[in-house]
Amino acid sequence: MSRELRNALSCFATGVTVITTRHQGQDYGLTCSSFNSVSLEPAIVLWSINSTSSSKAPILESGGYTVSVLAAEHSELAMKFCNNSHEERFRDVAISRAPSGRAVIDGAVAWFDCDLNGVIAAGDHDILLGKVTEFSSQQNSDGLVFARSRFGRFGEVA
Ligand SMILES: Cc1cc2nc3c(=O)[nH]c(=O)nc-3n(C[C@H](O)[C@H](O)[C@H](O)COP(=O)(O)O)c2cc1C
Repeated sequence: MSRELRNALSCFATGVTVITTRHQGQDYGLTCSSFNSVSLEPAIVLWSINSTSSSKAPILESGGYTVSVLAAEHSELAMKFCNNSHEERFRDVAISRAPSGRAVIDGAVAWFDCDLNGVIAAGDHDILLGKVTEFSSQQNSDGLVFARSRFGRFGEVA
């Protein structure tokens, strides 16, 4: 059931993000495809984090996170941010700082700086709602796409 469910859910194509936080002077980050928009006014987003993730406590304790929407060229970086220590994940990765001081991946198609706005326990994940405090986007580059466990890039069909 679990493998079949995973396979079925993987048919839903998503973008790919790296979500960062900064707590007690250390950067944390993980790859995330569950990011989504919720509300425009006020601006609210969400994503879900595995309850066992090492990023959960730093996010809850620091009270915020920053979403970098990855560009089509970022597939290696996406894999880097789901393995290794957090220090290793950021090694040799070009970043800038959002107004919050949290890391933004250079070349990201868009980024959103968010104050943690609610936590909803949901099975083996927690849904983290975020109030968007600052954001930016580039309209002239393609985002990375994830579907059926593979990375790709957006292509128009018509
Ligand atoms: C494409 C992709 C999407 C992912 N999406 C999520 C997600 O939405 N939520 C999550 O908790 N983990 C997600 N992961 C897994 C985490 O990136 C990975 O388990 C995590 O970084 C492991 O380290 P941690 O436990 O130290 O956070 C995803 C991984 C990949 C490759």
